[in-house]
Amino acid sequence: MATLGVNIDHIATIRQARQTVEPDPVWGAAMAELGGADGITVHLREDRRHIQDRDLEVLRKTVQVGLNLECAIAPEMIEIATRVRPDKVTLVPERREEVTTEGGLDVVTHRDAVAAAVERLQASGIIVSLFIDPSPTQIEASAAFGVEAVELHTGCYANAVGAAAQAERLAELATAGDVVRSVGLELAAGHGLTYRNVVPVARLPGMGELNIGHSIVARAVFVGMSQAVREMKALIS
Ligand code: PXP
Repeated sequence: MATLGVNIDHIATIRQARQTVEPDPVWGAAMAELGGADGITVHLREDRRHIQDRDLEVLRKTVQVGLNLECAIAPEMIEIATRVRPDKVTLVPERREEVTTEGGLDVVTHRDAVAAAVERLQASGIIVSLFIDPSPTQIEASAAFGVEAVELHTGCYANAVGAAAQAERLAELATAGDVVRSVGLELAAGHGLTYRNVVPVARLPGMGELNIGHSIVARAVFVGMSQAVREMKALIS
């Protein structure tokens, strides 16, 4: 059964809309844990548009389940990660002008920078995952870095319109999942997953972890964070 990593970035998005202190993502993490989250995920972006350095530092002290930091391969971010020491770092691509992470990290093009980041993180005892497109080339290149896991970008599946297109994207994820397992890496997936589209992804053979943010926080506005997490957990299990 896949575990659920709850991404709480968008609690911080609401706070930053007013540059105030509420809602606090630290409270959100606690409520998510009460709802059964297996992990808490935050993305410390270079432009600090939602999660702030203070959030990461306090979360490191308060989160009782695994803490997964998503960040760019930029040296500044790797420095922060090695200082704060989350349980896991997921390396993601980042462009300042994007609304959200638009594709996987190209670990072939950025081979040297990824290798340097992975080496520093692992030397600090941090588990490393690479957020990549569901492509065999990217998966095989990921395995060569000696990372523990990859997270497949599910955005194309989530954005597919119509049953045929969705089935095609799901098949692509299934094939990629098989490659991930065949090279001996842990399999995670995320981006754009919702209460409506999550079940087929959760059912993929060997699916280890799903990281879900926007949809859970959106539902939490109406039903509360713990309940929103509970409902997502029920779906993926
Ligand atoms: N996984 C990764 C690597 C991400 O970058 C994001 C978005 O920050 C997510 C999962 C969660 O995506 P969503 O908010 O669409 O559920």
